[in-house]
Amino acid sequence: MKTMLSVALATLVLSGMARAEDARTPIVLGNDERAMVLKEMREFLDALRKMNAALAEENFAAAAQAARKVGRAAQQQVPPGLKKKLPRDFMQLGGATHAAFDRWAMDAETMEDVSLSLKQMGRLMNNCVACHARYRIEGPHRD
Ligand code: HEC
Repeated sequence: MKTMLSVALATLVLSGMARAEDARTPIVLGNDERAMVLKEMREFLDALRKMNAALAEENFAAAAQAARKVGRAAQQQVPPGLKKKLPRDFMQLGGATHAAFDRWAMDAETMEDVSLSLKQMGRLMNNCVACHARYRIEGPHRD
């Protein structure tokens, strides 16, 4: 009985801690909006994968092309309704990330320097890490 009680207590304390640890700010979106943002995220990841593979082959044109796919041009397709729901610094960080991909593409093409491009890729990815540490997305249904 005593053991059961302490197990129950430990579980309660641990689950409380787990909740407290997620200090990210929730952004509440509709299902379609959430799907749209997450799709954009997966495109970011895929772009990084392609940029990395192209760099390994010193194919700077292909690397730049992959980066531009998620550049500023991609961001302009965000519908105004969704834009309104996103916190201002989320929008800013998102915009800065799209712009960083365009800048990365330009430097990759003009400098043709693998080491520099890798360094810039690392810096660009600070944006991914910073935003992921700050926000999470909540939809009406998490399915
Ligand atoms: C402006 C904020 C922001 C930036 C910048 C950002 N993300 Fe995200 N990302 C998010 C949020 C919020 C989620 C949802 C996390 C959650 O709900 O737990 C997410 C989720 C993801 C996911 C999961 C997608 C899915 O289908 O579940 C991937 C992959 C991802 N991001 C990749 C990236 C990469 C790579 C970058 C940088 C190039 C990046 N993100 C930049 C905010 C951002």
